[in-house]
Amino acid sequence: RILILDFGSQYTQLIARRIREIGVYCEIRAFDIDEADIDAFSPSGFILAGGPESVTETDSPRAPQKVFESGVPVLGICYGMQTMAEQMGGKVEGSPVHEFGYAQIKLEAASALTLDIADHIDTSDGKTLLDVWMSHGDKVIQLPEGFEILASTPSCPIAAMQCEAKKFYGVQFHPEVTHTLQGQRIFEHFVLKLCGCDALWTPANIVEDAIEKVRAQVGEQKVLLGLSGGVDSSVVAALLHKAIGAQLTCVFVDNGLLRKNEGDQVMDMFAKNMGVKVIRADAEDAFLNKLAGEADPEKKRKIIGNMFIDIFDQEATKLKDVNFLAQGTIYPDVIESAASKTGKAHVIKSHHNVGGLPDDMAMDLVEPLRELFKDEVRRIGLELGLPYDMVYRHPFPGPGLGVRILGEVKREYADILREADAIFLEELHRADWYHKTSQAFAVFLPVKSVGVVGDARRYEYVIALRAVETIDFMTARWAHLPYELLETVSNRIINEIKQVSRVAYDVSSKPPATIEWE
Ligand code: XMP
Repeated sequence: RILILDFGSQYTQLIARRIREIGVYCEIRAFDIDEADIDAFSPSGFILAGGPESVTETDSPRAPQKVFESGVPVLGICYGMQTMAEQMGGKVEGSPVHEFGYAQIKLEAASALTLDIADHIDTSDGKTLLDVWMSHGDKVIQLPEGFEILASTPSCPIAAMQCEAKKFYGVQFHPEVTHTLQGQRIFEHFVLKLCGCDALWTPANIVEDAIEKVRAQVGEQKVLLGLSGGVDSSVVAALLHKAIGAQLTCVFVDNGLLRKNEGDQVMDMFAKNMGVKVIRADAEDAFLNKLAGEADPEKKRKIIGNMFIDIFDQEATKLKDVNFLAQGTIYPDVIESAASKTGKAHVIKSHHNVGGLPDDMAMDLVEPLRELFKDEVRRIGLELGLPYDMVYRHPFPGPGLGVRILGEVKREYADILREADAIFLEELHRADWYHKTSQAFAVFLPVKSVGVVGDARRYEYVIALRAVETIDFMTARWAHLPYELLETVSNRIINEIKQVSRVAYDVSSKPPATIEWE
């Protein structure tokens, strides 16, 4: 296993995903990790990641000295390379010119890290060139003792360095981004050959391992899970069902703000097909009554969130002797929450799965996905036999249609929106566009617009369609859906839903717009 030390770069998670993709387990920890925690983790190698600060400042972060004394290989990336150079006696210099983007590095020495890797050959000297992604201001200007130059560029003579005797490597470029064409092979060389890790982190092993851990934690006791039908809680349900069978009870809250047939689908899938014990709490009236008259987006969110906890609590207290609460917390939630505590991360976000539980819940947590990235959760979902459509569905916000009905939520509006949304999704699937978009849905606008249908004038509501492409949901581009597809969807919605007279397509990107309309 590999220990990745984080210095605050946005790319750190990407490094971890790349290592896991190779089939090797790794974890991200803050750069100021205790030596005892390093010992407990017992890494086969370290990766020092990038960061926004400058090692030329005296109070900027450093790697624990232990990293360089453990006798295992170390790979420093960008800031990680600079701090390695500085801590081992080399020199780093700030530079007013920030190098950002594509670059070509020339390999200056043979290296186990770049063995048999080439993108181009420089015909003038026969040396190997690699296409890489750079993003840095500072650079190493003097090697530490025992190091040699591994690669250079015209503007950065020490673009990579190595001390093969100790298996210490530093690269100024970013192997974790796909623009570095051979980045993944560089990581493979590092973790498999140099650190000697085996590629055992496979979906089947992850499932087996998780099942063992859950059984050891839970024993004969009972576990409760809030099942939303989303990917994470669905995978937890399937996993726990396999691990502890009838000791698991799920509560599915139908809040009246779900998509068309969603409640029935969840019940069919888990209760009927898999034999999971699922209690369906029909709370549509309760939610809609609480929401009546409220048009403010933030207040609506709060009402829905609080109601959800109330209903869940009511169902939970009806059950006897439940000792554990299971949650679909995944690794990015854990990293983000941890990072926001140390104050070193530049993304600060509190996640409702971590630390937001009511204090009076006398249950221990079972979080079997706590160490997994979303793509790993999906892969083990398939491994557990969940259908592809469920595992690769678009994300759906907790407040559901509540944030897609602008202003006050009414049952009538929710019913119209459900129909329109179902038509949009059906046509996206039919045209093979669903999986090319990251998220797509309909939005209900409570304004009336004039139209003619047949010979009759129609004065009815407006539906907006939203489809975006994004990697991380922090930024997004509106999806360039084919006009023919939009035409079909629009025609169907207006023809099939008599309360709609007009359909609009949202062509706003994020930022400045958000993905949801509220
Ligand atoms: P925005 O609208 O902020 O959405 O661009 C980014 C992503 O987050 C989802 N989203 C939510 N998910 N509770 C959730 O569980 C919420 O209150 C919430 N608001 C937005 C949104 O669907 C998109 O995927």
